[in-house]
Amino acid sequence: MSKSIAPHGKHTRIPTLAEYDRLYRESIEDPRSFWGKQGERVTWFHPFHSVLDIDTEEVDFSWYQGGRLNVSFNCVDRHAAERPNKTAILWAGNEPGEYKHITYRELKHQVARLANVLKAKGVQKGDRVCIYLPMIPEAAYAMLACARIGAVHSVVFAGFSAESLRDRIIDAGCKVVITANEAPRGPKKVALKHIVDVAVDGLKVVESVLVARRTSTDVPMTVGRDTFLDEEMSRQRSTCPVEWMASEDPLFILYTSGSTGKPKGVLHTTAGYLIYTAMTHDLVFDLRPDDIHFCTADVGWVTGHSYIVYGPLCNGATSVMFESVPNYPDSGRIWSVVDDTKATILYTAPTALRALRRAGDDFVKKHSRKSLRLLGTVGEPIDPETWQWYHDVVGEQRCDIVDTWWQTETGGVLISPLAGVTPMKPGSATRPFFGVKPLLVDEAGAPIEWKQGTAIQGNLCLASAWPGQARTIWGDHRRFRETYFSKFPNLYFTGDGSTRDEDGDWWITGRVDDVLNVSGHRIGTAELESALAQNDAVAESAVVGYPHDLKGQGIYAYVVVKPEFKDQNADQIIGALKETVRHVIGPIATPDRITLVSGLPKTRSGKVMRRILRKVAHGQFTELGDITTLADPGVVEEIIAAAKKG
Ligand code: PRX
Repeated sequence: MSKSIAPHGKHTRIPTLAEYDRLYRESIEDPRSFWGKQGERVTWFHPFHSVLDIDTEEVDFSWYQGGRLNVSFNCVDRHAAERPNKTAILWAGNEPGEYKHITYRELKHQVARLANVLKAKGVQKGDRVCIYLPMIPEAAYAMLACARIGAVHSVVFAGFSAESLRDRIIDAGCKVVITANEAPRGPKKVALKHIVDVAVDGLKVVESVLVARRTSTDVPMTVGRDTFLDEEMSRQRSTCPVEWMASEDPLFILYTSGSTGKPKGVLHTTAGYLIYTAMTHDLVFDLRPDDIHFCTADVGWVTGHSYIVYGPLCNGATSVMFESVPNYPDSGRIWSVVDDTKATILYTAPTALRALRRAGDDFVKKHSRKSLRLLGTVGEPIDPETWQWYHDVVGEQRCDIVDTWWQTETGGVLISPLAGVTPMKPGSATRPFFGVKPLLVDEAGAPIEWKQGTAIQGNLCLASAWPGQARTIWGDHRRFRETYFSKFPNLYFTGDGSTRDEDGDWWITGRVDDVLNVSGHRIGTAELESALAQNDAVAESAVVGYPHDLKGQGIYAYVVVKPEFKDQNADQIIGALKETVRHVIGPIATPDRITLVSGLPKTRSGKVMRRILRKVAHGQFTELGDITTLADPGVVEEIIAAAKKG
């Protein structure tokens, strides 16, 4: 394991690692007292009487019971009163030089107007609203407007297809969809409204579609259903009373992929989520009053929810919202936004860093970056070389790096260095956050004991509860229990593998289930296989991941075509299969490699032996393990030959 690097900065509130250790112990030994105190981070309309109640049998977690509060009030109103002219959202548009500062006062007015629009459309507390928007301020207004009136938002990443959007709208039962006419993304424009039209076609549940005008392009509007958001907002008042929500009232649903079935709607609730994101944002990044927090994520993912909108705004910070892509108009774009916004914190994904590193240091060095004091990564393991580049070239060896491990389900960061406190190791997420008790277990579920000086490896589980954790899967609590709490009894199973090194630091090695992490995006192999099945040529398929230089993991599909398609041109079939997946899920899920085979390696009971497919996808053509249990061992030779060919 690599040597650690001492922090360059100093945490403003946690002076030493020994103090972190002390606080950590306190948080584990007496969680109720620890988390009770954290309740002071937010403003309550009515105080809570109980910090944590758990019904283990039902897997029911209840935090801050008895309390009433409102997320929009905490993220907007209290700052609008105290610091009305501070920039809440610093929007960086798609074109270079296109910026907008939205102060806390203005944010309050816009959120109130949008909340009033929703009310006028009949949205009530508990109703679901789908947000399918580009990275424009309206996305944050819409989320906070829902929170203001107690509606539950379901943000769908604007790169998902009409079919994916439709599935999510149906599953959550969304009454209203908020979208834009078009979404500029680098040199392209995505026809969002058109996608929504296809997605909601014939769906009775959707009563209204609100359309933000991001560009001047005209789009067809369905009378009685579609209206323009700006017109609606201008007709509404700029004040709107908040709905005082119970601590455990739902705040949002966010769909994410699992190892089986369709994406699941992870549900986060009000108080615990807000407190946890605010606290992690504050302490992991060592937030200072003048920080400009630049998180490059999209609000369609959990990172955008927690560290563009809820965490930073609850803390009264300035949050940069970036509409474009890192290589538009060139690979210096992120650094030019850093300079223009004077960002002090940059939080991005290893995938982006790998691409920017490959583009060459000149793009970085052309820009000053002197405002930066802290760098963060999230979403996938970071290879030590990229980490070192981030540290040496981007951060000029003066910025700490926080490699933050967490998930959609965890709400906020669970394992990460604390800026200015924790010694860093390139590629390691290092230590657990307060109250978080990671544990490695073997396949049988037995805990693997760690001792100072020895390294261990296993399935990463969590043995404690924390306020930011997901409470259920929308409409399917049984799936929630089975997915996370049944593989290893009384433990939350993350789906990740990890190593714990000789010093006790954690190194997340990646998913151990059938979920891929492609450019930091979670995609289930089952989802990909069912998308491929929608193409007429496909008899069956099996999808696995393989190491990819830029994306971290690439998508490798083995496809058996139906006999009547066997004589068709293979390249054409492969092109059509890629198109099918783009159409069914979205461009982020496009397979990188497709190999046409005449059969899959199956056991006699019909189970696909993915182990073999994974090895072949990794370029390993020998030592495939025992293949004698296969129904037809001959297919392996053919698969290897096909994979070698291309
Ligand atoms: O495999 C882990 C990986 O991303 C997964 C969670 O994906 P998602 O729910 O989309 O949330 C991503 C943003 C929080 C995890 O199960 N992952 C996330 N962060 C890291 C990571 N793997 C290694 N190191 C990280 N810092």
